Amino acid sequence: MNKIFLAIESSCDETAAAVVVDGRQVLSNVVQSSAKLHERFGGVVPELASRAHVEAVVPVVDQALAEAGISLADLTGLGVCAGPGLLGSLIVGVSAAKALAFASGKPLIAVHHLASHIAANYLAHPYLEPPFLALVVSGAHSHIVEVQDYTTFKILARTRDDAPGEAYDKISRELGLAYPGGPKLDRLAREGNSQCIDLPRPHFEGSLDFSFSGIKTASLNALNKAKQQAKTRLVRREDILSNADLAAAFQEAVVASLLDHVSLALDQTASKKLVLAGGVSANSWLRDQTQALCQDRGLDLYMPPLALCTDNAAMTAAQTYYAYQAGERADLRLNATAMWELGTPLPS
Ligand code: KG4
Ligand code: ZN
Repeated sequence: MNKIFLAIESSCDETAAAVVVDGRQVLSNVVQSSAKLHERFGGVVPELASRAHVEAVVPVVDQALAEAGISLADLTGLGVCAGPGLLGSLIVGVSAAKALAFASGKPLIAVHHLASHIAANYLAHPYLEPPFLALVVSGAHSHIVEVQDYTTFKILARTRDDAPGEAYDKISRELGLAYPGGPKLDRLAREGNSQCIDLPRPHFEGSLDFSFSGIKTASLNALNKAKQQAKTRLVRREDILSNADLAAAFQEAVVASLLDHVSLALDQTASKKLVLAGGVSANSWLRDQTQALCQDRGLDLYMPPLALCTDNAAMTAAQTYYAYQAGERADLRLNATAMWELGTPLPS
């Protein structure tokens, strides 16, 4: 018999609900973003995000059920992203899911946000199964993960400072691009010359860990230096260092750094399958370069379609199915948790 899950995702500024069958077939996928509210602040304002979730969560869940053409009674259970993320935002989704589980008497499953990002690939690639190596790159995280089975994860690398999405958004803000700047910087970089400035490629001896704050700071320093030079030479800053050139150099450094570490992880694990996941996996340069790397090494590459790269609940519902199959259950004492390391039990 088919197993149908409704899942809710509210870890950042997207209120999302979706219905998925057997972890693979999407019946509905509703995403309502509050990004516009945060635009003038240059980043997500947690208090505004949680208020927007409170307003959106019931209509978004109703819409997800209506578009799927089902009612609560048809569900096998409910899934919810319990962390990591913004606590005030997560609490709204977790409270809604608990209320629905209580009202319907259906099981409740708590899932990890990054496990869900990885699961976005199961929706797009019907034959993809673990084990595989995943590069998970989002607004808040950067991990290389050994996905041993659907619910067993081993982190091989993490960022020691900024997440790539965070760095993208910071540089974009300095260039006057509205939040979220990642996709805009991605487009801008296509017109630039990445060789215009030299940026670092951080590496830690004996470790696969990432660092992006050095790349970010060096990019900002180059921008400030160009501003100073423009002042003394009475020219426009763009004539010394254009937005497109800076974007291209920054993007080249971030992607090269990600893929250098992925290459080392591939050497260590001998994995034949590579999976991209998370909001930054929508980046066109990262997708192109990863494709080239996999072609060179004769590996199978799996990437989510663009619509499933950034936060959505279809990915959460997919992971919910696998967590349910593995016997995971939450109860009404479930709490949202801002910090939760992938591959470890939900902190109590
Ligand atoms: O996974 P996600 O939706 O949220 C978190 O879990 O953090 O990722 C959002 C991040 C933002 O920082 C956004 O700027 C970035 O993903 N992003 C991109 C692109 N599309 C989204 N970064 C670079 N290039 C893109 N095309
Ligand atoms: Zn995310």
